[in-house]
Amino acid sequence: MSECVLIKEVAPRDGLQAQSVEITLAQRAELIRSLVEANVPELEIGSFVSPKAVPQMAGTDQLASDLPAGNSRFSALVPNMKGYELACQTGLKQLAIVVSATEQMNQNNIRKSLTDTFLMADDILTRAADEDIEIHAYLAVAFECPYEGLVAENTVIDQARQLMASKPARLVIADTIGAANPKAVKSLMSQLVNEFGSDALGCHFHDTRAMGLANVYAALESGVRQFDSAAGGLGGCPFAPGAKGNVATEDVVMLCESAGFSTGVDVEALLKSVAVLTDMMGSQQGGRAHYWLTNNWQKMRN
Ligand code: COA
Ligand code: ZN
Repeated sequence: MSECVLIKEVAPRDGLQAQSVEITLAQRAELIRSLVEANVPELEIGSFVSPKAVPQMAGTDQLASDLPAGNSRFSALVPNMKGYELACQTGLKQLAIVVSATEQMNQNNIRKSLTDTFLMADDILTRAADEDIEIHAYLAVAFECPYEGLVAENTVIDQARQLMASKPARLVIADTIGAANPKAVKSLMSQLVNEFGSDALGCHFHDTRAMGLANVYAALESGVRQFDSAAGGLGGCPFAPGAKGNVATEDVVMLCESAGFSTGVDVEALLKSVAVLTDMMGSQQGGRAHYWLTNNWQKMRN
């Protein structure tokens, strides 16, 4: 049996949170339904954030209270304790928290200092452990920050140790603005895998500089087996100027499967999710292999 790679699909959250077109709750629900049909193992449905800060994510509570049946494990992003409480009220059992590696990114994203963000992360992780909630702790702008520039590898390793001391279910290293390169990814992720083991780690890449898939492969070679991606390659953070789309789920699935890993994702159904996104956005969506996959997805089954 081939080794598995676990995909966490983030289009309904990272994909939609910075879009300027109007998107209804019914459209968000349809996207979620189509991704469940594509059998994505994990699915981030939205975020419990201030609707003033991110209006695109308003109503995530309604989506969470009416989720489709299927095999996908649902989660949502929370920026603070209030978000944690709101998400828990809906019955979600897997949540993401975000700590940015730099002072300015924390200030811009959640209006907290770096120090206070780490304290808050520890508070949420401690409470979640008592309440049986699984937390994915994201270390954002882990390679470069749009406000402070390059982030030193040692800084990230120290911060990873600090977060891991509070025992998240997963630590996700996030290249929020898509500035990483495969060499830097391999160096950082090899050290982290060595220290914490691959089960505890995930990676989240954006494709701003066309190195997203190369970075996924570098992380795979370092032993990482859990990746975030967004159907159609949609994505971006409203508080990180320059952040472009996430790596596309269909491309990551293709890369992993062609390298001998299994993902369990149904590519034909996933392409239908991309079509849903195309309708929602009013413009063609799709990853780098969209054309090839559309015509040849059957080959992925062999
Ligand atoms: N969900 C919904 N509303 C929230 C909230 C949450 N998680 N946290 C705070 N609020 C509300 C407060 O109740 C308050 O409402 P009011 O004005 O009606 O009284 C208002 O937001 C301001 O609260 P405050 O604690 O002062 O927040 P803030 O203005 O300092 O903003 C955040 C902090 C974290 C709420 C806001 O910056 C945010 O939502 N950021 C999201 C960042 C994001 O999603 N980034 C992309 C993913 S990494
Ligand atoms: Zn992202």
